[in-house]
Amino acid sequence: PDALKAELLEIALDAAARAGAFLRDGRPEDLGVAATKSSAVDVVTEMDIASEKMITGLLADRRPDDGVLGEEGASVEGSSGVQWVIDPIDGTVNYLYGLPSWAVSIAARVHGETVVGVVYAPVRGETWRAVLGDGAFLNDRPLHVRPAPALGLALVGTGFGYLAERRARQAEVVRELIPQVRDIRRGGSAAIDLCDVATGRLDAYYERGLNPWDYAAGDLIAREAGALTGGRPGERLSPDLTVAAPSGLFELLQGRLEELGAWHD
Ligand code: IPD
Repeated sequence: PDALKAELLEIALDAAARAGAFLRDGRPEDLGVAATKSSAVDVVTEMDIASEKMITGLLADRRPDDGVLGEEGASVEGSSGVQWVIDPIDGTVNYLYGLPSWAVSIAARVHGETVVGVVYAPVRGETWRAVLGDGAFLNDRPLHVRPAPALGLALVGTGFGYLAERRARQAEVVRELIPQVRDIRRGGSAAIDLCDVATGRLDAYYERGLNPWDYAAGDLIAREAGALTGGRPGERLSPDLTVAAPSGLFELLQGRLEELGAWHD
């Protein structure tokens, strides 16, 4: 099993490095001034699809029997018990605007359990990686979450989905939470937000309505750095709710989000 994990990590790092370099070097300079909003979005969508194709092509070469689930529609059942979960650009709007916080996120699951996570942010020159049971690293630095502060002193990351009604509800939750924490950050990439908790750059992170490709790799990285992750109290993280924080703060934030009904639309 250790040899399998090492192989999956090596492949994930290679795929993320290639796709990330392609996205960084191939991003058109004038994206921000594209003729219309939709023409700019189309270019990004094309880059997103090309990145996913690049990753799935490499996976098909190296491990043809594995399953694949990708944001841009890649869906292969597979027969090996290994499934790859891919976000070819997490933080698409940051990518569109030339903000540096976007990443390629790749996780490998074995019989449903995430064993490898890689998040590569090419413009920031940062690669987070984790192997189940072996800790989390930023580039080559071992990571540990920041000790839990009181909720009132916590810097809390969050994010918003794309649907207007859901965003209105998410804003209500933020309005309630903001006087009760140090401050709120909206970084624009859920994968990096989870890695920021692992790195001690955020005390905590939560979001409603993520997809597995947004959180699969970051979840393992946060846990391997010592964070707790979950959804509603007693539940694993899911598209309903994702929460990550060190023990002590995690329970407080999860309880507060439960009181606020943060998983409701
Ligand atoms: C989005 C980002 C964002 C989060 C959204 C996600 P995408 O992913 O992770 O931070 O708030 O919920 O959909 O669309 O850029 O891959």
